[in-house]
Amino acid sequence: MIIKSIKLTNFRNHSSFLLKCEDETSLILGDNGFGKTSVLEAIYILTQGKSFRATDPDILKHGTEFYRIELEYQNGEKTTATYDGKTKTFHILDQKFKRLPKKNKYPIVLFLPSDLNLISHAPSRRRDYFDRIFSEFDENYSSSLSKYEKALKQRNELLKNEATLREDLFSWNLILSKYGTLISNLREEFTKDLNSKLTSTYRSISKNQDNVDLIYQTELKSKNESTYLKNLEQNFEKDLIVGHTTFGIHHDDYLFNFNQNLANNSASRGETRSIILALKFIEAELIFQKQNLRPIILLDDVFSELDTIHRESLTNNFKDNQVIITSVESIK
Ligand SMILES: Nc1ncnc2c1ncn2[C@@H]1O[C@H](COP(=O)(O)OP(=O)(O)O)[C@@H](O)[C@H]1O
Ligand SMILES: [Mg+2]
Repeated sequence: MIIKSIKLTNFRNHSSFLLKCEDETSLILGDNGFGKTSVLEAIYILTQGKSFRATDPDILKHGTEFYRIELEYQNGEKTTATYDGKTKTFHILDQKFKRLPKKNKYPIVLFLPSDLNLISHAPSRRRDYFDRIFSEFDENYSSSLSKYEKALKQRNELLKNEATLREDLFSWNLILSKYGTLISNLREEFTKDLNSKLTSTYRSISKNQDNVDLIYQTELKSKNESTYLKNLEQNFEKDLIVGHTTFGIHHDDYLFNFNQNLANNSASRGETRSIILALKFIEAELIFQKQNLRPIILLDDVFSELDTIHRESLTNNFKDNQVIITSVESIK
């Protein structure tokens, strides 16, 4: 699908803003603080159901009572979201929804400046990054993850209380084992999917013979629910002392190897950029393979971070996608 327009009312610093999009590439040009990222954020909410950077109270324009965002696709379909200070409601045709229905979502590949530091980020940032991608690959992934996270929160609450008994945790252990195993299996599978294309895509950008590998790291020795459960139970005393759950997929990480060494220690700035670019290309390709939809590409302020070769490679790779770019400076 192609976005025809996006309209913002009381969204961040925008009282009223309308962007009419081109079929191929649209450019939002403006100084820092103009509200460029906010426009991409609004598109993201109307295609994914929630923001990539904040919650609705942060987004509502200061001093106003509601925000509204309206997205129109080229085929005439419209998705609107309204937030009244308490709840957000999606309107599609004449129906109202608390959450954006799956059939009204549309895949996005988002490229933020901070993604360029993915390799050196803390593990939690990398987990969040891949969680977002894997949720685009498989709806089950995001629903399992939110069940896991809710259960983890409940279990951790109980662990803060010294009087908690082993058996009080049992039902949470079961949920964590079930979804933890499922998520870990999907992480393994999707990492393999990404990795299988990483070196060749990287080489197509960098025009050399370097090797890049993405490796999924987890403390789960074998991926079945009963082993997971046993691990949780074995750690009960330790968990009670530290006051949180020490075992599980919430500690997973992803490593990048560059010519068999950790990329974080060995890849140069330019090489790191090529790795991330390759990752974005593969992301778009896999979404197309898995869903038969060409994702919309949102590039937030990354053009200015890239040299000519990377810029050209980005433009060529996404020529079949609708691309929306924000930039402070004009991009030729
Ligand atoms: N809820 C809000 N109400 C009013 N202004 C806001 C709100 N949230 C953020 N802003 C302001 O909106 C401006 C635009 O933010 P952003 O979209 O990130 O700009 P850009 O990407 O163009 O630099 C910033 O100056 C920010 O301080
Ligand atoms: Mg910005």
